[in-house]
Amino acid sequence: MSQLGNIPHTIWWEDGTVRMIDQSRLPLVGDLLVCNTYDGVCVAIAGMAVRGAPALGVAAALAVALWSETEGANATSVDAYLARLDEVADEIARTRPTAVNLMWGAERMKRLARDNADVGLVQLRELVLQEALNVRAEDEERNRALGAHGAELLAPGSRVLTHCNAGSLATAYFGTALGVIFTAHAQGKVAHVWVDETRPVMQGARLTAWELKMAGVPCRLITDNMAASVMRHGWVDAVIVGADRIAANGDVANKIGTYGLGVLCKEHGIPFYVAAPSSTVDLTLETGDGIVIEERDTREVTGVTVAGVIEPRSPQETRALDALTAEGAYKLGMTKGHQMELSRKGGAYQFDAWLRIAPPNVDVYNPAFDVTPAEYVTAIITECGIVRPPYLGSLAAACCGTGSIHELG
Ligand code: MRU
Repeated sequence: MSQLGNIPHTIWWEDGTVRMIDQSRLPLVGDLLVCNTYDGVCVAIAGMAVRGAPALGVAAALAVALWSETEGANATSVDAYLARLDEVADEIARTRPTAVNLMWGAERMKRLARDNADVGLVQLRELVLQEALNVRAEDEERNRALGAHGAELLAPGSRVLTHCNAGSLATAYFGTALGVIFTAHAQGKVAHVWVDETRPVMQGARLTAWELKMAGVPCRLITDNMAASVMRHGWVDAVIVGADRIAANGDVANKIGTYGLGVLCKEHGIPFYVAAPSSTVDLTLETGDGIVIEERDTREVTGVTVAGVIEPRSPQETRALDALTAEGAYKLGMTKGHQMELSRKGGAYQFDAWLRIAPPNVDVYNPAFDVTPAEYVTAIITECGIVRPPYLGSLAAACCGTGSIHELG
């Protein structure tokens, strides 16, 4: 029986605040973040509490609305409001460089405000908030539509491999690559899903495996370097991934490791599908060469970040934890640069740790994304339908009128 109703909502507007599940600690700690200011949302984006291209587009729109409802409420004129809204939207758009949805969400808010400059400040602020809510609602609609299109590509009994997390958590709700899988599974077409763990941030192990289990979709977790072997055994019928930015020629930027899967699929004759809403298509870029690839903190590679809940086994342990955390978070002294912090949240005790696995001072390269050339992509699934190669022209035609980034600029 489908348990789809269990998949999580990611980010939403509530009581004048932006709320989100803190994905940096999932699945072992389920914290809710409440952002009262737009720069709080920026910190959440940079720290990957909210992540995944479509979710970043929604976060950008909600962050602009949050500014509008707080600092923006004090603007003394429409001109001053618009000038500052532009600055704020640009600041939000700069928090991460690769996923174009972030810039798309910020641009869409700028355009809405500019286009309605004549209605007066009070109504303009209402329109800005409504637009952010629309961006969130439309994201789910797009995902459900692309899920239905993508499911048509899968035959009954499919064993599907996915990379990173392109699920409900990576969107406002439902997911892109996982949206296809959820839809196909409800149609009885998915035998099971191979989940790449997705080093170094482990979105596959932490988030995709968690979502699939909650949705009741059979899955099996593998480390990234096992994908070639399971393909060679003949155990994969299709690969479906999401995208952070798709250039006009069909080159796809997605989580680091995606390119390798594209090459492997070609070698093994396995279809390689990319599922993304039109807000991920960047027709201003002719090829993927122009996509800026984010490089992240080297500590993602030299160590592992883990969080968990501590269950005291005796009154003595409870007293010890109470004493250590009486004045807030307690940092343990550790050798070799390992870090561990204990904290108390309500009645629960929690640890947050970074544990070193590589020698100190080792040189590191940590790109968060790679570009898969269009020649490896069997089809691109958007809410408008399925686009097949050659992508130049056909992708633009499919996205025409959807409000993708080139239409906003
Ligand atoms: O660094 P992240 O976790 O934001 O990267 C996410 C991905 O690469 C996803 O595959 C992509 O954004 C598509 S999400 C529907």
